[in-house]
Order: sequence, then C-alpha cells, then structure tokens
Amino acid sequence: MKQEELEARVRELFERQGFKVEKDGNQLTASNGKKIVLKVFSSEKYSAEDVSAEKEVKVFVDEGLEEVKEDLDNDVSIIYNEEEEEDFETPSYEVIGDIAVINDLAGVNRDEAVEGILHHQNVKTILLKDEGLSGEFRLGDYEKLYGEETETVHKEFGYRFKVDPTEVYFSERFGTERKRVADQVEDGERVLVMFAGVGPFAMLCSEKADEVVAVEKNPAGAEFLKENIELNKVENVEGLEGDVEEVVPGMGEFDRIIMPLPESANEFLGLALDHISNNGVIHYYRFVEDGNTEEIEAEIMKEIEQRGFEYKILDTVECGERGPTSTRMCFDLQVTKSI
Ligand SMILES: C[S@@+](CC[C@H](N)C(=O)[O-])C[C@H]1O[C@@H](n2cnc3c(N)ncnc32)[C@H](O)[C@@H]1O
Repeated sequence: MKQEELEARVRELFERQGFKVEKDGNQLTASNGKKIVLKVFSSEKYSAEDVSAEKEVKVFVDEGLEEVKEDLDNDVSIIYNEEEEEDFETPSYEVIGDIAVINDLAGVNRDEAVEGILHHQNVKTILLKDEGLSGEFRLGDYEKLYGEETETVHKEFGYRFKVDPTEVYFSERFGTERKRVADQVEDGERVLVMFAGVGPFAMLCSEKADEVVAVEKNPAGAEFLKENIELNKVENVEGLEGDVEEVVPGMGEFDRIIMPLPESANEFLGLALDHISNNGVIHYYRFVEDGNTEEIEAEIMKEIEQRGFEYKILDTVECGERGPTSTRMCFDLQVTKSI
C-alpha cells in the first residue's frame, strides 16, 4: 500500500472515534483530551528494519510488514487492503496478544466470523464471550471458536503482559485510559493500584512513581501480576495477592490510588479515603446510566464529607461502554484532608 494511503486509513480510523488528527513530520498525533502518537510505515516505502518507534508510540503497518508485530515491543496494528476487507463479514472483536476475543457475534455466522478474523489477524485462538462478565473476579464464559491455547503475551506501551483472558480480567480497549492515568503520575509518588489484574496500570505508573503497590484477589490474576513484574524487570512494583480490605490496612498513605472496579468501587471508597495522602488523587471508576453522573457524584460527596475532608473533581472521563445506556467513567478526585 502507498504511504499516503496508509496514513489516510489510519487518520480515518481515529477521526471516526472522535479524535483530531494532525500530521507532525513523519508521525501523526491523535488527540481527544488524551494525545496518542501514531507512526505509520507502508511496505512500499519502508523495510522491516526501518520500523522503529519510542515504546509508547502506536505503530501501524500494512500487511507487507506484518512480521514486525513479533519483533517490536510497541502496540502494532496491521491495516489490510480495503478490497479484501469487504469480502468478509466480521463481528467486532479485540485482540489480546495473539488471541481474538469476540464480545458479540452480532448476527454473523460463527464460521464466517472465524474466517474473517483469520484473514485480518495472525491469531492462534478465537474466543467468543458467551455472556457479560460476572463474579468478583469479573470473568466471562468463553467458547473456543478456533484453536485451543488461551494464554498469550499482550504488548501495551512497551510492556509485556502474560495473560489468559479466561482466567483473569483483561481488556486491551482500556489501554489509552490506563495511559491517561499513568501520565498524571509525578516523580517520586507512592501509588496504590487496587484491583490490579495482570498489572497494566501498575507497570505504566512505575515509570515515574517511587513505589507502586498492586493488589489482586483472583489467585490466577495475582500469579500473572507477579510474573509480569519479573517479565518487565520493574523493581519498584510490589504485586500482592489478596482482598484489598485485608491487604491495604496498615500500608500507610499513597499519593495516588487507582480503583478500576466500576461495578462496586463504591464499597471500597472509604478504604481509599483512609489511605490517600493530603491532596492525593483517587481515580474512581463507576458505571454511569444514561449519562447521569449526579448519582455517583452524590455518592462521592457523602463518603468524603462524612469524614470531614474536602475534595475537587479534577476530571470526569468516559472510557468505555457496558451497553446501550451504560458508560464506564473515571472520576479523578483530589482529596484535601487537613482543612
Ligand atoms: C475490572 S478488573 C481490572 C483489572 C486491571 N486493573 C485492568 O485494567 O486490566 C478488576 C479486578 O479486580 C479484582 N478484584 C475484585 N475484587 C477485589 C478485591 N476485593 N480485592 C482485590 N482485587 C479485587 C478482580 O479479580 C479483577 O481482576
């Protein structure tokens, strides 16, 4: 594919998601509050050896450079030829390492979905999520449509995450949200990631933080978390297995607490308030129905004010959907304890 055509396809992809895209030398910058740097390499202009980028940059190549996906630590997407794409009916899916996960077949026949995905992606397994996520570990039931192996290594912003999506929660779709939060970490911070999963928030935050404590209750998830700390050779992240209610008391205060459990983070806000430092920031995730944030804001106010603290909502960010009327939102709360 020609370089200009590939750049136009990448631009369109981001503009369709509401990003403003600008060209800056040989790279594109997509912004919608967050800023993502994109580098585009067509096989017509570049060879595999030419493809390189800073680790947080998203890389786009055409199918002639598909091989670089294996070699780079970056998040690499392959853009396929348009005429070929039109021949396949494919449901929407996400790719975790070399596993494709379909959330909803949306009427597409199983065999066609498999054929379509295999045409676009070099994956070893295709899973169909039977139901939504359930239980305190936020796991789904999966049907294997293709392949057997469910463990993989997913790359995000230069980090590697060993994960089995059938055993522990992981969604690549929240990568940009994790980066948004990690970008706010300042040098020397002490950060707590409650509900850490396989460690994506923790690893990203470790770049600036002095110390990151990551807690995960699902034993399989905690095992992956610990393995991923080793795999990425980060020495300032401590991965702990257990319930935050049992593990966090006695750990002192944190400058930043991340609470990525939108179904029930409210049950743990009191614990976070006990452990946030004066003027520290809590990233509080909740599901919001019909865009009505008032209920959640009332819940936040009640919990904080009954402790005699003050707070400021620094930002309210939409970061995903659960259904037609329910959005996942992050409330960035700065808490002032000594008034
Ligand atoms: C929605 S997932 C988020 C995982 C991860 N932060 C990510 O972004 O990929 C929430 C995680 O919290 C864990 N969890 C639920 N209740 C918990 C608790 N009381 N203490 C510690 N972890 C818990 C679940 O097992 C699950 O892995």
